[in-house]
Amino acid sequence: MSFDKIRDEIAELSESLNTYNRLYYLESAPTISDQEYDQLFQRLRSLEEEYPDLKRSDSPTQRVGSAPSGEFSQIAHRIPMLSLDNAFSNEDLLDFYSRIGQKVDGEVSLFAEPKLDGIAVSLMYIDGVLAYGATRGDGQTGEDITANVKTIASIPLRLSGDDLPSELEVRGEIFMPRSVFDELNLEAQKREEKVFVNPRNAASGSLRQLDSRITAKRKLMMNAYSVGYSSEPDRYRLHSESLSDLRRLGFVINPLVECLDSTEAIGSYVQKLTALRSELDYEIDGIVFKADKLADQQTLGFVARAPRWAIAYKFPAERAETTLEDVEFQVGRTGAITPVARLSPVFVGGVTVSNATLHNMDEVARLGIKIGDRVAIQRAGDVIPKVAARIGAGAFGRNIELPSHCPVCSSEIEQEGSIARCSGAMLCPAQLKESIKHFVSRKAFDIDGLGDKLVDQLVDKEFVLSPIDIFDLNTPNLVLLERMGQKSAENLISAIESSKQIELSRFIYALGIREVGETTASTIARELDDVMGLFSLTPDVLESLDDIGPVVARHVMVFTSNQDNRSLVRRLLEKGVECQMPTQVRESSESVFAGKTVVLTGTLPNYSRDDLKALLVAVGAKVSGSVSSKTDYLVAGEKAGSKLKKATELNVQVLDEAAALALLNQN
Ligand code: IVH
Repeated sequence: MSFDKIRDEIAELSESLNTYNRLYYLESAPTISDQEYDQLFQRLRSLEEEYPDLKRSDSPTQRVGSAPSGEFSQIAHRIPMLSLDNAFSNEDLLDFYSRIGQKVDGEVSLFAEPKLDGIAVSLMYIDGVLAYGATRGDGQTGEDITANVKTIASIPLRLSGDDLPSELEVRGEIFMPRSVFDELNLEAQKREEKVFVNPRNAASGSLRQLDSRITAKRKLMMNAYSVGYSSEPDRYRLHSESLSDLRRLGFVINPLVECLDSTEAIGSYVQKLTALRSELDYEIDGIVFKADKLADQQTLGFVARAPRWAIAYKFPAERAETTLEDVEFQVGRTGAITPVARLSPVFVGGVTVSNATLHNMDEVARLGIKIGDRVAIQRAGDVIPKVAARIGAGAFGRNIELPSHCPVCSSEIEQEGSIARCSGAMLCPAQLKESIKHFVSRKAFDIDGLGDKLVDQLVDKEFVLSPIDIFDLNTPNLVLLERMGQKSAENLISAIESSKQIELSRFIYALGIREVGETTASTIARELDDVMGLFSLTPDVLESLDDIGPVVARHVMVFTSNQDNRSLVRRLLEKGVECQMPTQVRESSESVFAGKTVVLTGTLPNYSRDDLKALLVAVGAKVSGSVSSKTDYLVAGEKAGSKLKKATELNVQVLDEAAALALLNQN
């Protein structure tokens, strides 16, 4: 092969691999299979090894990292990387909004972005090719982390599209998704290595690896949030425009960014992000608000090290310090005993917390806490507050000891691995209350008006000693309870009456069999011809069901082999409870597609793939996204690519739309 041809092939491979990479990571729309990608990648790699001089600076082979080459060198930023002033309350935020409103002409619109908790990065592109990447450092000079940033899939090695400024510096945040962080720490734990404290530290540690092959394995991400230096500084009028352009060039812009132009909009954005925060797969510690008009930014300028046109609203701290006043032991529905910390009230994550779970005695030992200690409390989003760490000793130190007997019913406590359990079962009022609460809960009998406080009273007054007693309650009895009038009593009785018609899956769930949640309950219900069939299930049958393993099967067997439980179910039926059998999943056994795995690809002449998929699913087909040896049919339209090729290789039957419809209409 001539030198020119090889150069061309290397160029073509680099470009198409970069495109495939972008489609895969940025648009979640892969166009070729992983295998095909790997093949092209290996071909490029071997060409580059043979002709190292022809390797391009945007070569995707750099994504896997390279061996260390000495220390990080320093890079001076063309424009300093500043920090932001903080706002700690809505008031601070509205002050900022009105302050800038007074200084600029016309309406101010703000652009809001989540403040990602990662590492700031500056990326310089020269003629569209990534020239270097640097950390923020002291704001004036950062470290050259080019080799490391090149391994990050969401950072383009070459900008896409034309019409590029010859020099463009893009700024953004590199972070580690929580899911990647959890996985990384789990692995570290298994190998008995040190774990990272938080995703930010893990991202920072991964980025500051001299060996970029390690960075490559850490699955870091980048969201771009501004243009730094540009050889065409007047290209945009709005900050939001610059971000849209960065998106066009191949960067990921956080999907939660928004343009806001009133105090109400600002308020509801803060509320929205505060609520969303704990559900995101990445950590955010606040919201950055920026004046959207670049002319306004000019007018407002800078103070010291921060711009006047932007502010970082910080979420309320999710960690706070307080004193552990006492530890009490709570008994759950299954008898599990949980140590609960009683704390001096402390404001954390936006609420006042005075109780926090300690999970179990292993956790107490791990934390090494004593009553009286100073402790750190953590509360993120709506998550239950927990004691995160011991900070230091308090005035007194009393050991936390697991009682030998249940604090509620005095039955003996039995140890099951790390879980301590009260052996009192339904004789323990705490377990009884929790079981009844579960029995009447929304996903079970769903009895409206029978809340926790009422259940506590019913058990305490011994009106209810078993779920059966619920169906013997009557209005004259109920009105004897606190805060219960004639009308609410009557309503409750009628709610109880109508709850008797219950789906079998809910009934099974209501029984509170250990480890049987709503999904498992539905799985079991689908297997039964009637309720009492529950008691004839064998471990083999149970384990043959979806998602039921030996542990769940054993719990079901422990429940069903107990005569008391059999008589409980019988007596519930005698009280008039009627279980409705699940409607069978419509699996037309007549259809050739029933139970078959079908893949759709290409453009179909008449149907969209989603519509055809719906028809197939309705007759019991499983529609999957990729072709494998388990595929029964491939329905292929125009421009069917790799899937068609693979199906042919694997001898999978290929149908066009007309043939698929003919088979669908056969019965
Ligand atoms: S703008 C002059 N936007 O927050 C404006 N910063 O103190 C400078 N950060 O470490 C930054 N998300 O890396 C901006 N959407 C965002 C951001 C963001 C996170 C970080 C930034 C820097 C710190 C600013």
